[in-house]
Amino acid sequence: MRRGYWVHEILNQYVQKTPPGLTLYLLWAAISLVPEKDREPMYPMHTLVNEAVNATHLDAKLGFAKGLINAVLRRVLRNEHLYQEISEEKNPSYPEWWIRKLRYAYPEQFTKIIASSKEKPPLTLRLNQREIGGDTLKQEYITKLKESGLSIQAVRAVSNQALPNALELLNPVPVHQIPGFFDGVCSVQDAGAQLAAYLLSPSKGSRVLDACAAPGGKSAQLLEQFDINLDALEIDPARATRIEENFARLKLSGGQVLVGDAANPQTWFKGEPYDFILADVPCSASGIVRRHPDIPYLRQEADIQALQITQRKILTALWGLLKPGGRLLYVTCSVFPDEGESQAKWWLNAMPNAVRLGAPGQLLPNQHHDGFFYALFEKAKD
Ligand SMILES: C[S@@+](CC[C@H](N)C(=O)[O-])C[C@H]1O[C@@H](n2cnc3c(N)ncnc32)[C@H](O)[C@@H]1O
Repeated sequence: MRRGYWVHEILNQYVQKTPPGLTLYLLWAAISLVPEKDREPMYPMHTLVNEAVNATHLDAKLGFAKGLINAVLRRVLRNEHLYQEISEEKNPSYPEWWIRKLRYAYPEQFTKIIASSKEKPPLTLRLNQREIGGDTLKQEYITKLKESGLSIQAVRAVSNQALPNALELLNPVPVHQIPGFFDGVCSVQDAGAQLAAYLLSPSKGSRVLDACAAPGGKSAQLLEQFDINLDALEIDPARATRIEENFARLKLSGGQVLVGDAANPQTWFKGEPYDFILADVPCSASGIVRRHPDIPYLRQEADIQALQITQRKILTALWGLLKPGGRLLYVTCSVFPDEGESQAKWWLNAMPNAVRLGAPGQLLPNQHHDGFFYALFEKAKD
């Protein structure tokens, strides 16, 4: 998926008309394994051709395509000027509208943002401070990680916010290889996402709503770090069970899972307003493309405006549930200002009693964290 547009352009040069279904996909898959410019090949080139040709035996519909696949791949691989003819940088795997939006919003950084989607995302842990709070237990756990062969480094801060519970694994592994994961010692959570609990910083005993909560990463972090009474709301019942599972794995108490629509509180709100609300609203997810490279293929330009409208509905409904003097944190994992700064500005205009407090605003994806937007509002006491 990360090379899809480049592969498509290459293929267009070598076939007169688009081959049907499976033949096209097999060619795509094979060409996507051609090494990137100046990189070592993953497989010897003849293996790539042979295995693609062998794969034609797997489906009767591919039988006739054996010759075509063999010929096209051999010609592609023989071309020493492949990268000069069609540069991969000039064919990033995004639709035109996506690139236009990024270029407009970030004239200086947009090539870097595009390039970052090809990098390996970091794998960051959040230590459960209820299970391994305090320096001694933390050091013991770090030793255990090292003894299991994992290389780690502490994530000191993101956007000047210290993250004492964040540890980056330098060689990502599946969770079953992380010591204590199933005993609730830690969770996997991007360092940029870990800012949420610190920015909201709910006071002891306060009523907190996480309005779009599944799978429960930020809810769990709030319960690990603060003694609060938390409602974790989620519209999708199947996803809501993931929140329960995470609370159970991490042995957390103080959280209730509710199923309902944040934009329609009358169906689930019992009438007691909240001191703090986390609104991690549905968004394009344009800040986490390197983790989900299919996102640019799935989104349409019109989706962004539709998401903006949905977010406004949710925020407007949530504002009515907040106590005067209470705080709401608006979060998206997007890099589009339509789901970031423009929304924050709209909010200040639309809500006369909203006061904007300090929060990092736009975080662009980098080596240590994904792309996020954070804005914090307080409801004036009139
Ligand atoms: C960005 S994810 C939340 C991630 C979560 N906060 C975490 O840190 O693990 C957004 C979630 O909101 C849910 N959602 C979407 N629309 C909603 C609505 N109107 N009311 C409540 N939840 C909603 C989605 O199903 C999805 O699980």
